Amino acid sequence: MTRREFVRRVGRYGGAAATGAMLALDLLGKPSAALAAEEPVTPAGTRSAGGKRPRVLILGAGLCGMSAAYELGKLGYECELFEARGRAGGRCWTVRGGDRQTEVGGPEQTARFADGFYMNPGPARIPGHHTTTLAYCKEFGVQLEVFNNVNEAAYYLVKGLPRVRLREARADLRGYVDELLAKAVRRDALDRPMTAGDKEALIEYLRDDAGLSPDLLYKPSADRANFNRASESRGYVYQDLPAAGSHPGKISNALDFETVIKAGFGKHLGFEHQFDQQPTMFQPVGGIDQIARAFERRVGERIRYHTEVREIRKTSDGSVRLVVADQLEGSTREVFGDYCICTLPLSVLRDVSADFAPETADAIRQVPYEEVGKIGLHFKRRFWEEDDRIFGGISWTDQDITQLFYPNYGYLGGNGGVVIGYYQFGPDAEAVGKLSLAEREAHAIEQGEKLHPQYRAELRDSFSVAWQKIPYNLGGWAVWSEEARSALYPILNRPDGPIYLAGEHLTYLGGWMAGAFESAKAVVLSLHEASARA
Ligand code: ALA
Repeated sequence: MTRREFVRRVGRYGGAAATGAMLALDLLGKPSAALAAEEPVTPAGTRSAGGKRPRVLILGAGLCGMSAAYELGKLGYECELFEARGRAGGRCWTVRGGDRQTEVGGPEQTARFADGFYMNPGPARIPGHHTTTLAYCKEFGVQLEVFNNVNEAAYYLVKGLPRVRLREARADLRGYVDELLAKAVRRDALDRPMTAGDKEALIEYLRDDAGLSPDLLYKPSADRANFNRASESRGYVYQDLPAAGSHPGKISNALDFETVIKAGFGKHLGFEHQFDQQPTMFQPVGGIDQIARAFERRVGERIRYHTEVREIRKTSDGSVRLVVADQLEGSTREVFGDYCICTLPLSVLRDVSADFAPETADAIRQVPYEEVGKIGLHFKRRFWEEDDRIFGGISWTDQDITQLFYPNYGYLGGNGGVVIGYYQFGPDAEAVGKLSLAEREAHAIEQGEKLHPQYRAELRDSFSVAWQKIPYNLGGWAVWSEEARSALYPILNRPDGPIYLAGEHLTYLGGWMAGAFESAKAVVLSLHEASARA
């Protein structure tokens, strides 16, 4: 018996058995290149009997909608996708020279990045444990490179102190804290029970961790005679790196303990310890939209572009009727299907006329979306590399621009590069999103030049995005409070008759491409089970 025949037979029983069989065979758990190449499998026992394949109308050709169509296609469903924009991918979007975007209420802008340069206004990085995202990249041959999320050479600028390198801040913080702990242990200040052996083991660890001196002090030394592990961690000043002849290099001096604690260095240095942000992270070579393009090549024929959804209706026989508007022709029409997968962000869906059950409609209205802004600054020269020796990664600041992303491609190239000049959230993103394009750029420059005085002289162009004002998104991602997670999330995750909501907003992977893929997978399974039961 083939895998296909097996699934067909089990599918007759529907429910958990069919789902379990598919999962066991990895037909849904992971995308399988082999299955994609086969003829579609017709699921048994679907409502549209008589040889007709069940028809699924998918709203939105972002990653969730396209991956749902791709997987349903493998299972024998007939899918049609409705996409309001002239491009697929949704937030999985890369801006290159010539690309245009008009925000709600303006402004309108055209990117003027030089050939070969881009910015990813939405998703930009993929954690190594986002297995579905990486599995699709592998299956579709999307080439990956490392997204450098942590660069010890990048800057940290807080509380008006002079900028320091991340490695310096980290060494000082760790050094003093370890020193303190080591001293506390020595002085018996820690609670019992702890044996003498325990104490010595801890002290040994602390000494090694930060390179404390024999008298348990954190003192990285600019003096080569006292060179120690702490000096090694903190590193050399860039103006005097080790070289030939009489150039041993100059070790940088530590800040004092009080400054380090008051600066709150721990705040951003902990960022890369978050499960989602730890190295190794990836990005597709050439822009995040390589992932969207790969899906588009597989399901693009089924996408109706420039087609806005105006009405979502349930029919008396339990199927779906949509009213869609062709933006180019200015006409509307009806389309019918057995099921609908709606991947529109809730921020957009709440304004679409629909026959949702009252509790679904109510839940859709109640989930807020995050304001998120990014600006791409195209510089004529890669001064962060040439002058500061920063290759990729992120500099942090307590100013509202929050951080700078250096490009993780085109190192030491001769034609400049695009730096993300702010990545903002909430009220800061909202305020900056209200500014004109020139004012947003000026804001990024004014704060960014405190980290890089070269900014003003080297700027070529900018392109900025305020996600709360991007049509068909109206926000960066859904924000779930604990209360909403327990009261509304289950409602939105339940099919409302033949309508299934899906997207990153209906997962525990909010704001990640993996959320879109995992949600698609869950909905495909759920719809397939319902179809087998019908
Ligand atoms: N997942 C998004 C990020 O990494 C929010 O910035």
